[in-house]
Amino acid sequence: MVEIAPSILAANFSRLGEEIAAVKAAGARIIHVDVMDGHFVPNITIGPPVVAALRKATDLLLDCHLMIAEPDRYLDAFVSTGADMISVHQETCPHLDRTLNAIRAAGVECGAVVNPATPVSTLNEVLPLVDFVLVMSVNPGFGGQKFIPYSLEKIRQLAARRAEEKLNFRIEVDGGIGLDNVAEVVRAGADIIVAGTSVFQTPSPQEAVTQLRQAAALAVAP
Ligand code: DX5
Ligand code: ZN
Repeated sequence: MVEIAPSILAANFSRLGEEIAAVKAAGARIIHVDVMDGHFVPNITIGPPVVAALRKATDLLLDCHLMIAEPDRYLDAFVSTGADMISVHQETCPHLDRTLNAIRAAGVECGAVVNPATPVSTLNEVLPLVDFVLVMSVNPGFGGQKFIPYSLEKIRQLAARRAEEKLNFRIEVDGGIGLDNVAEVVRAGADIIVAGTSVFQTPSPQEAVTQLRQAAALAVAP
């Protein structure tokens, strides 16, 4: 079952509780939380206090995408907020194996992220230990960007490797996904679709999630 993970980066920050309730009503189970530090990426967003507030406001899974330099320094802070999933960028982790194991040891699902220009083969060795891989389909830093078409081939490569090696990680894809392209992203092999603008910058985020879920479900049907 493919999941839609709404990204609150595109939501109304003064009404996050209501925004999350709306997407939950449409069946979303994962909330994608974009953490940016103005250093690894050219934008600053939210940190642990907001994640802790979200934890109090919802029982949905909180998926913290850390776009920050030296993520090891902040893992404890995000773990203690009650994050359910934490992903770190390959590009920020000189000791990626150690960082992923630290997340897993804390009882949180661990994910490895690759930027558009980073080959998925850089993750080959850690694929057996991750719960999910996050393929960036835009350059991280901002919502509302255009999907980069070559990302589809990266998703296919990962899905093929997962089948060959009989591995279990899920494939999450993030950036520029909406009703126009969700089907091809799912057909390439995605299990979790992050969607910000196409959910929250619409008149009805609830309706938007319903439609994305339907389109994703149709794409996997024979
Ligand atoms: C980009 C973030 C994405 C972003 C996606 O750096 O990692 O999660 O919120 O937003 P859309 O769906 O608008 O491309
Ligand atoms: Zn993200």
